[in-house]
Amino acid sequence: MAKKRAASASPHPVFLCSACGNESPKWFGRCPHCGAWNTAVEETAKAAPRGPGRGYGAGEGSAVPQRLDEIGGEGEERWRSGIGEMDRVLGGGLVPGSLVLIGGDPGIGKSTLALQLAGALGRAGRAVLYVSGEESPRQARMRAERIALRGEGANLWLHSEIDLDAILGEVDRLTPSLLVVDSIQTLYLSSLDAAPGSVSQVRECGLRLLRLAKERSLPVLLIGHVTKDGAVAGPRTLEHMVDVVLYLEGDAHHGYRILSAAKNRFGSTNEIGVFEMRGDGLIEVENPSERLLRDRGASVPGSAVVASMEGTRPLLVEVQALVAPTHFANPQRVAQGVDPRRLAVVIAVLEKRAGLSLAGSDVFVNVAGGIRLEEPAADLGLAVALASSFREIPIPPDRVLIGEVGLGGELRPVPQLARRLQESERLGFGSAVIPKRNDSDAGPAEGRALRIERIAAATLGEALESCLGARRKAAPAPRS
Ligand code: TYD
Ligand code: MG
Repeated sequence: MAKKRAASASPHPVFLCSACGNESPKWFGRCPHCGAWNTAVEETAKAAPRGPGRGYGAGEGSAVPQRLDEIGGEGEERWRSGIGEMDRVLGGGLVPGSLVLIGGDPGIGKSTLALQLAGALGRAGRAVLYVSGEESPRQARMRAERIALRGEGANLWLHSEIDLDAILGEVDRLTPSLLVVDSIQTLYLSSLDAAPGSVSQVRECGLRLLRLAKERSLPVLLIGHVTKDGAVAGPRTLEHMVDVVLYLEGDAHHGYRILSAAKNRFGSTNEIGVFEMRGDGLIEVENPSERLLRDRGASVPGSAVVASMEGTRPLLVEVQALVAPTHFANPQRVAQGVDPRRLAVVIAVLEKRAGLSLAGSDVFVNVAGGIRLEEPAADLGLAVALASSFREIPIPPDRVLIGEVGLGGELRPVPQLARRLQESERLGFGSAVIPKRNDSDAGPAEGRALRIERIAAATLGEALESCLGARRKAAPAPRS
């Protein structure tokens, strides 16, 4: 069939890589551009009409080069939505003219969050056009009722449409201050002979919306589906062309949702926003540490509390480890919330430098509340949790662990120690193990005014001793 189409002088089929968007006239098993396997999809090529000589990325009137100091924009404008957790992740608010992509698993709450943002801007007097290709306006209205959007409805326009040209027409007519597209995978351009969600449709629709955003300084929020490995579905070029990529993730069982930025041209990508999914929408969690530690089983061996910095905010989280005799030839290493490679390194350091033999044990690690710990400062907590479970000795319940573990078993200093100690003290922790090198830092004594006891340790061995008692191999713990 493909042959027949090619013969009839109509658009010929091409093969596109669903990972990177690379085009090839022939089928490929492995993409010659990005090296991904089995990503070839057949689509019919037909170039989208482009404006004469205009680049897609051009901003307002920037057809000629401008001198840096002549470009206006003192104190860039940001719209605060009033949803503090979202504003923080965006880098202080929504930037006019930005293209924001938000991805996440089905049912995690993307549409809910987008509608809440639309409602918040509507309340501030800005008109929002919410285009949904997945739900009818009635369904959207039912959701709006759940999250108690009422008065703001006057500024909120819902539109069930998937034809991008029609959507652009409505944008012309309504001149909204924000356009929400739910989702980019349902959009299509009739000038392209490919199905919605295909690589070429997603790419072209993304480019059109990028141009719309830049030309009119109109912020556009795109919702995107994710693939089974968690990346936004569609060509990689989509992530490259947008200004901000946000992910909404969560632990479906706890109702917590974490909003984080994988890319942000207007702010840091370290900030996270914490929400809880309730019956009336996503509610901000203002005191995440307190909430995350609420259901902690403090006196159980294997439970440690770490103070991690998520952007500008310290977050105290529980790391749980379970070390159990294995029944397999290859012991299992299962990590949730920590990088499995980091876990492997910490296990190796424990074996080599602290004399713990974990080769015959399965190791399971879990970070409570669906948080992902990426900071090296969480190493010490992970290591001590593992040792605590292995030796069956609980860590003192009011102790926080802060420190990066080096390959030599040394504890390395961490940034912003004072902030971490402050937060620990605020939450009622009595002592913190910290790297000795941090403690003896020259300069103004960080956090000296704090009452929390500082236990300075130079090595992982010293930290273990202070938390679990004297080091002893295969001997019962000293009982007092
Ligand atoms: P939704 O925003 O539709 O997810 P997505 O767009 O990411 O697919 O959220 C769907 C889920 O959220 C659904 O399982 C019901 C739940 N939910 C609540 O628990 N409370 C609420 O107020 C709303 C609107 C949804
Ligand atoms: Mg949805």
